[in-house]
Amino acid sequence: MLLEVSNNPKRDFLYKFGKTAWYEYYAGYSPRFVKNILDILNLQEGDIILDPWNGSGTTTQVAAENKYYSVGFDINPIMVIVSKARCVNRNSIPKLLMICEKIIKKARYYRKYPWISPEPLEIWLTPKSAKVFRNIERAIQQIACDKDKYLIIFYEESLESINSVAAFFYVALFRTLKKFLEKFRASNPTWIKKPKSPEERVDLKKEDIFREFQYQVEFMINQFEHESDSYVDLERLTKIDIASSDNIPLKDNEIDAVITSPPYCTRIDYAVLTSLELALIGCPIEEMKKLRKRMIGSPVINENIPTLNSNWGKTCLETLSKINSHNSKASKTYYYKTYLQYFDSIYKSIVEINRVLKRNGYGVFVVQDSYYKDVHVNLSQIIIEMTKGLGWTQCCKEDFESKVSMAEINPKIRKYRANTKSVESVIIFKKTRG
Ligand SMILES: C[S@@+](CC[C@H](N)C(=O)[O-])C[C@H]1O[C@@H](n2cnc3c(N)ncnc32)[C@H](O)[C@@H]1O
Repeated sequence: MLLEVSNNPKRDFLYKFGKTAWYEYYAGYSPRFVKNILDILNLQEGDIILDPWNGSGTTTQVAAENKYYSVGFDINPIMVIVSKARCVNRNSIPKLLMICEKIIKKARYYRKYPWISPEPLEIWLTPKSAKVFRNIERAIQQIACDKDKYLIIFYEESLESINSVAAFFYVALFRTLKKFLEKFRASNPTWIKKPKSPEERVDLKKEDIFREFQYQVEFMINQFEHESDSYVDLERLTKIDIASSDNIPLKDNEIDAVITSPPYCTRIDYAVLTSLELALIGCPIEEMKKLRKRMIGSPVINENIPTLNSNWGKTCLETLSKINSHNSKASKTYYYKTYLQYFDSIYKSIVEINRVLKRNGYGVFVVQDSYYKDVHVNLSQIIIEMTKGLGWTQCCKEDFESKVSMAEINPKIRKYRANTKSVESVIIFKKTRG
C-alpha cells in the first residue's frame, strides 16, 4: 500500500487562526495535517482515533469534526483543559456571551480569600490581583459547571468535572493571565521566569482584569469565523483525560488508528512552559516537581535511572553510546541519563500503543530529529526500529524541513554544527502482528 502525505505538519502553524489560535502551543501541529492523514487512512464511520500525547487537542478536534470517535490523553492537566475547550461548537456563541457576563458579575461579589493556601498565583501577582483571578476561576466553576464547592482542578478527580464550556473560559483566563505577565517570559520561549523579590510582582486594577478577560472571551469567539459551519456534537464524540502514555487507560485492541506526535527529545520543560496556567488551576509547588518528573523529555533526573534495553534498536543504542562518551561537560553524569529516561519512556509508550491498537490499525507519528552537541538523534529511525520489533510495517515516511526547532532558538548550538535546521518526519505504520 502506497500512502503519500502532502501536508507538512507544521505548515500553516505559524499563521494561527480558528481554535488553534486560542492557545499558543509551541509543540502543536496543524488541523490541516490531521485532516490530510484522516483522508489518507480511509477509515470507517464509527472508528476510534487515539492521540496518547494529545497536547492542545488538534487530533481530537479534527477527528471528531470528521465524525470519528476520538480519544486524547496528556499528562499535563493544562493540555487536557485546552483540548476539552476545542470541543465547544460555534452554535454555543450566544450561551458563551451570556455565561461570560454572569461569571464577571459573580466574581465581583466573592468576599472569601484565599480559596487556596498558599495561593500559587501570588508568586507572580500581588495578593490583591491574585484574588481577582481566583474569583473569576471560582465563578467559572460555579456558573459553567454548577459547582457549589470550590475544587482545585489541578487534581484529576476535579478536572473530570470540567466540561467543554468551562474549559473554554479557563483558556480565556489563561490568556488573560499570560497577557498581564508577559514580562516573565524568557527569551527561550519554553521558560517562564519568577520574580526575584515580592516587589517585582505585578499589581493590577480589578477592572482591568475583568475587561481583559472579557476581551479574551470575545477574541476566542471571533475565531469561530474560521471554523466550519457544519454542526457535529464534538463533546459526544470525544473523550479527553489525564493519562500517562506508558499506562493508557484503554482495553487491548480497542483503537483503529493513532495519530500523534511524541514529546520532543530536546529537554523542553513542558511543565515550566505552563507554570502560569498550572498556578491558575491551583497546582502546589511540590506537585509541580512531580509533574516535571512524569513528563517525557523532561530535563529532571528521576531517582531510578533505567538501564539499556536491546529492544530500543541499533540506532538508539549507538546514539546513547555516543552521548555517554562525548567529551563535553556533564555528558555522562547528566545528559546521558536524560536520554536514557527519554528512550525508556518512549519505548514503554510504544508498547502501550501497540497493546491498545487493533491488528491492521494504523499508527501515524510526527517526529522531529535533534542533536546532542554534534551527535545526531535520529528519532524517526529509532521509532521505526522500536516498532519493527513489535511487528509493525512501515507504510510511508515523508520528511519536511522544520522551521521551529530548539537549534534555531539556541544560538550556542552553532558552536557544534553549521546546519541548525531540523527535519520533521511523518511516518505511517500498520500493525501487522498481534
Ligand atoms: C509534541 S506534544 C503534542 C502536540 C499535539 N500534537 C498538538 O497538536 O498540540 C507532546 C505532548 O506530550 C505530553 N506528554 C509528555 N509526557 C507525557 C506522558 N508521560 N504521557 C502523556 N503525555 C505526555 C506533553 O504534555 C505534550 O503536550
